[in-house]
Amino acid sequence: MRARRSLIDLDDLHSSEIEYVFTRALEFEEELPPRTLLQGVACLNMFFEPSTRTVTSFTLAQQRLGADVTTLSPRDTSLGKGESIEDSAITLAAMGVNVMVIRHPEAGFPRRVAMAFDGHVVNAGDGAHAHPTQALLDIYTLRKEFGDLAGRKIAIVGDIVHSRVAHSNIRGLCGLGAHVVLVGPENFLPESFRANGVSVERDFDAVLPEVDAVVLLRIQRERISEPGALSDEAYIRAYRLDAKRLARLKDETIVMHPGPYNRGIELADDVLTYAGWRYANQVRNGVFVRMAILDFLVNGERRIA
Ligand code: NCD
Repeated sequence: MRARRSLIDLDDLHSSEIEYVFTRALEFEEELPPRTLLQGVACLNMFFEPSTRTVTSFTLAQQRLGADVTTLSPRDTSLGKGESIEDSAITLAAMGVNVMVIRHPEAGFPRRVAMAFDGHVVNAGDGAHAHPTQALLDIYTLRKEFGDLAGRKIAIVGDIVHSRVAHSNIRGLCGLGAHVVLVGPENFLPESFRANGVSVERDFDAVLPEVDAVVLLRIQRERISEPGALSDEAYIRAYRLDAKRLARLKDETIVMHPGPYNRGIELADDVLTYAGWRYANQVRNGVFVRMAILDFLVNGERRIA
């Protein structure tokens, strides 16, 4: 069994631990901690898929806590020479690497590494499975807006089935008592997503006036192999958030997106000037939440000296 704490999906954290992470993130946001919390801790970032936000956010979080940071481009590693990821993980641990942050197109890949690695693994997105730190920063952003999320209605819209962000958010939001309203066409949102606390809706216009937050998603084209997807025109007609649809929201409803967003597809430019657009807050919060997660995994629950 894994001896050290890793974060593969949100069910690796008890709700009290999520609360602790949010409290720490808020402390870090209010006052940057001294660069000693991860002093001498070696962090390795390995992204097997493209990333702008997540890799930068983790790197800044590690640097702000004083860690030694290495970013390894998988193309340049010995994996190309036939070494398994498990053997790479053993090698890296022997060298003193304490934390591996991993993104990979295969669901379950970070868990495999965690089983072999004598250190902490943080899943930065694995296939369509999970993206726990994105969900944590999304929930942190929602909590700052609304406080307790119990009973709040959060719509997640679009390509749910291929979105690891949606899957981790559903898990996290349900755990906090929010009502998750999934919205999308059948090929992006099968009926099987319907569950306790999770509803499935096809009609975006009908949902708009009822929700406290709308989380938009990119169509994850790189993960779509099955035929029968909607044409862009049909998707835009039914699901693009534009000025007309924004006008149907309650005044206090916020709009979020994990990024990268595709202008003209899931959102029109009107969204970028909507008063409740919280994308920049999400990105900003992400650094503090990732600082808090790294501190929690490495140091456990403790007070700042
Ligand atoms: C997402 C991802 O890579 O899972 N982006 C992110 O990390 N903020 C979502 C996406 O690629 O659409």
